[in-house]
Amino acid sequence: MSKIFVDACFRRPTPHTPIWMMRQAGRYLPEYMEVRKRAGNFLNLCHAPDMACEVTIQPVERLNVDAAILFSDILVVPNEMGMELEFIKGFGPKFPSPLETQEDLDALDIDAAEKLTYVYETIRMVRARLADDKALIGFTGSPWTLATYMIEGQGTKTYAIVKKLLYTNPGYMHALLAKLTHVIKGYLERQILAGADAVQIFDSWASALEEPAFFEFSWNYMKEIADYIKTKYPHIPVLLFPKGISGFLDKIDGNFDVFCVDWSTPIELAKEKLGDRYVLQGNMEPTRLYSREATLEGVKHIIDVMGITEGHIFNLGHGMLPDLEPENAKYLVDLVHEITAR
Ligand code: CP3
Repeated sequence: MSKIFVDACFRRPTPHTPIWMMRQAGRYLPEYMEVRKRAGNFLNLCHAPDMACEVTIQPVERLNVDAAILFSDILVVPNEMGMELEFIKGFGPKFPSPLETQEDLDALDIDAAEKLTYVYETIRMVRARLADDKALIGFTGSPWTLATYMIEGQGTKTYAIVKKLLYTNPGYMHALLAKLTHVIKGYLERQILAGADAVQIFDSWASALEEPAFFEFSWNYMKEIADYIKTKYPHIPVLLFPKGISGFLDKIDGNFDVFCVDWSTPIELAKEKLGDRYVLQGNMEPTRLYSREATLEGVKHIIDVMGITEGHIFNLGHGMLPDLEPENAKYLVDLVHEITAR
């Protein structure tokens, strides 16, 4: 059976514009909180395929979105490369021993993709339980975004440590990015073999870089991974999400299918620069979801620009927030399905 989301990624006709939401599985859903409590903590949940499967499917059943996204986290990759990882309540992820020396770099395990078996098992379980017309999206962080966490050790406002390294020791950065690129190719490939119908690469920290650095240290590696996947698995859509780079859209190119537009990029600009070459995914400002009026206005604007036609996947321009009303998310999904019915 054809999947509406996959058809849309390839610009094939669909009955409506498909919609899913970044971070659609998570804390705003009481049924997620219940499973996370059972798991004990967030990482346990990522490591337990039966529970990760359950929370992957929850938003599909509650909201009727057109795609599920694998429940996991981008940081399980550095974790399996050998870096200790904690998720601290109210603070976020933390690597207590960030990368500093050549020895730290040499110690990273480049066979980590073979160790992420709980992710592949989750994918197999979800694919077996998910309705045939719903797609399952696999994902990874980009090399640059993962490298940022591995060097800073945690989230950062200034990116001072990682950017100091980038400009003072670019060889170290490239060696790290090359290792991550190698692991991520194998990781996405195994996700596809386990049953992922599409894969998305999140470059959440793209906007930390000036133009030449973005292309040299982030986009080139994302393109290399995308090209590897597209060459081996042309039937699998590849979606790239470099967040906050609206100033560089003219220079975006590469072998991939869908460009994900963040909320700070005007959708008309993305359409003008990229809409002929790539299907666009996005880009409603996530906090509009707190208000039905703001949601309606946001949807109308995006659909006015993108049209009721092929070439668009509706999504938020970044992740859903934890204190959101699930009913408002359902309102958005129903609205997009109704307005865009062919
Ligand atoms: O529904 C989905 O989107 C699938 C699951 C998913 C999670 N993280 C679950 C999660 C996905 C795709 C991610 C990606 C991710 N993780 C990114 C890239 C996307 C983005 O948001 O830019 C990044 C940067 C991370 C790193 C990360 N993980 C942070 C910064 C945090 C803490 C932030 C917060 O909101 O607390 C996490 C934890 C995390 N990952 C949670 C979830 C549901 C919250 C954990 C919890 O239940 O307490």
